[in-house]
Amino acid sequence: MHILLTGGTGLIGRALCRQWTQQGHQLTVWSRTPQRVAALCGAQVRGIGWLDEVGDQAVDAVINLAGAPIADRPWTRKRKALLWASRITLTEQLLAWLQQRQQKPRVLLSGSAVGWYGDGGERELSEDSPQITDDFGAQLCGAWEETAQRAEAMGIRVVLVRTGLVLAADGGFLARLLPPFRFGLGGPVGDGRQWMPWIHIADQIALIDFLLQQEQASGPYNACAPEPVRNADFARALGRVLHRPALLPAPAFLLRMAFGELAGLLLGGQRALPVRLQEAGFRFRFTDLDLALADLLGRH
Ligand SMILES: NC(=O)c1ccc[n+]([C@@H]2O[C@H](COP(=O)([O-])OP(=O)(O)OC[C@H]3O[C@@H](n4cnc5c(N)ncnc54)[C@H](OP(=O)(O)O)[C@@H]3O)[C@@H](O)[C@H]2O)c1
Repeated sequence: MHILLTGGTGLIGRALCRQWTQQGHQLTVWSRTPQRVAALCGAQVRGIGWLDEVGDQAVDAVINLAGAPIADRPWTRKRKALLWASRITLTEQLLAWLQQRQQKPRVLLSGSAVGWYGDGGERELSEDSPQITDDFGAQLCGAWEETAQRAEAMGIRVVLVRTGLVLAADGGFLARLLPPFRFGLGGPVGDGRQWMPWIHIADQIALIDFLLQQEQASGPYNACAPEPVRNADFARALGRVLHRPALLPAPAFLLRMAFGELAGLLLGGQRALPVRLQEAGFRFRFTDLDLALADLLGRH
């Protein structure tokens, strides 16, 4: 298969490239820095700076994951515009390119997040659930999904991956948590009762590959382990695996002062369940958080 990726140089994209190169697929990554693609994604992966560089070559599948990091810095007006443009405008460009191409891919798998639901409180969230709150994260995911969904009108199967918190050894959310936890300075965020829909990176990669191959799969899929935990339980599990206390709470008012609107992302959560993936027959390798963390942090 020839697979075109956006965001292929990111945490999830790099892992996908490793897996698919090993399986013999041909990969092209549309990137802002195409010259870095081979180093980041593998020597056989082609980096392009413009979609037109694909030329007449047939593309079988498109994986759309590009987007500026959500939780890196406060959501100023300028930052929100960048978060929006790097997902929605970029997806619009992708669709415009697909529109003028004679040969269309069979499938577009596009990113989204469990943040699509907003702050779900105690509700269990399946893909049938409505949006619960209308914060910026929910609006961003909503617009991202709606834009990608338009590819259906071109006869392309569209899969939307509502990703939870991806746990990986080499980046992402966990890498940022590790330094304070290793110094014994970790702990729950706010009251620690908010739900965290985590997923091991190996399962994230496996489910993307699974959805790509399931010809009847389309629409939204919650990409998170079947057993979400509360934030305080997550902190305790990480403390256990690292053999460090995890008792120091990060008070809600301090987070609001430091991060403004972005603090809502840390203080809220989603009790999201991967209902459609399990119905489709996908088997998670990691359903237990302690085992997932031990696997990633090398302490069995
Ligand atoms: N990791 C998670 O826990 C998680 C959870 C939920 C949702 N997601 C979403 O899933 C997608 C992939 O996640 P990830 O963790 O692999 O992301 P990542 O490591 O942050 O990589 C995202 C990629 O997006 C591109 N990008 C960054 N800033 C950009 C900008 N200003 N304009 C255009 N492109 C930009 C970059 O590609 P180039 O530098 O090559 O252009 C980058 O490699 C992201 O959109 C993310 O929001 C991730």
